[in-house]
Amino acid sequence: QGAPPVRHYLQFDDFSADEYAYLLERAAFIKRKFKTFERHHTLVDRTLAMIFEKASTRTRVSFEAGMYQLGGSVVHLTTGDSQLGRSEPIEDSAKVISRMTDIVMIRTYEQTKLQAFAANSRVPVINGLTNEFHPCQILADIFTYIEHRGPIQGKTVTWVGDGNNMANTWLQAAAKLGFHLRVSTPSGYEVNEKLAASAGGMGAGSYKTYSDPMEACQDADLITTDVWTSMGFEAENEVRRKAFAAWCVDRKMMAVAAPDAIFMHCLPAHRGEEVEAEVIDGPQSVVWDEAENRMHVQKALMEYLLLGKL
Ligand code: CP
Ligand code: NVA
Repeated sequence: QGAPPVRHYLQFDDFSADEYAYLLERAAFIKRKFKTFERHHTLVDRTLAMIFEKASTRTRVSFEAGMYQLGGSVVHLTTGDSQLGRSEPIEDSAKVISRMTDIVMIRTYEQTKLQAFAANSRVPVINGLTNEFHPCQILADIFTYIEHRGPIQGKTVTWVGDGNNMANTWLQAAAKLGFHLRVSTPSGYEVNEKLAASAGGMGAGSYKTYSDPMEACQDADLITTDVWTSMGFEAENEVRRKAFAAWCVDRKMMAVAAPDAIFMHCLPAHRGEEVEAEVIDGPQSVVWDEAENRMHVQKALMEYLLLGKL
């Protein structure tokens, strides 16, 4: 018989809609416990290894604090202070790290590198951001939407800006959870549709691209954006600043959205570039809840990968 295969969370597509329903409910339960200072030690004696090949504030703090709150502990590794930076093969690193810890979170460059780690890991591996995807963030964003406005099914989400890891993940989420995704990017910076396309098509969701960001924002329920230059693409910064000039989420875009539309940004943000200060710091912005919710959804995610449904 042997042990059941290890589950990983490498992209949004890895879980079913039913699993998301469970995770989102569980995250709400975990958040309530956190807010009322109730002890919630479901992962006592478990260790999370966190591997960062790129910078992070939210991902590190949310996973680290979250794991301690669950009664577990963490090991923090970066490229510079481990053998990963001295070209130890990723496969060898995976074999070693996964013999000593119970679950691993990785932030790296290519999705293929994450996949290579997972293929050699004895324990669950979580995508903490790759060039291609950022599933933990979208999980937090969807949790945040539901918290503020109720079910996301059938709603319209508008992405303004770069067709990056966040946008690719939104596309997978729209297909999985059945909402309408509109994407407006400058030409040459489109979403990687092939990569993100779900095997099952769009399901009850839909996906449409717009060259005009104002048009994409018309009657939207959620408007969201991200930096013009993601980590790893810094050399393109100047070219991108010019190309993206018309893709700044401003008060005019918010004004054409639904009256109760909310604004999200995974952070870090650049006021005056991808978003106007009046929008991100304004009454429709939920970015601080969005950041905090990373921790609650990831606690639910780690529990689920290690213990299944509780
Ligand atoms: N949103 C997000 O992943 O933030 P960090 O880069 O700070 O982890
Ligand atoms: N798209 C951004 C997200 C940062 C959290 C990046 O990859 O740098």
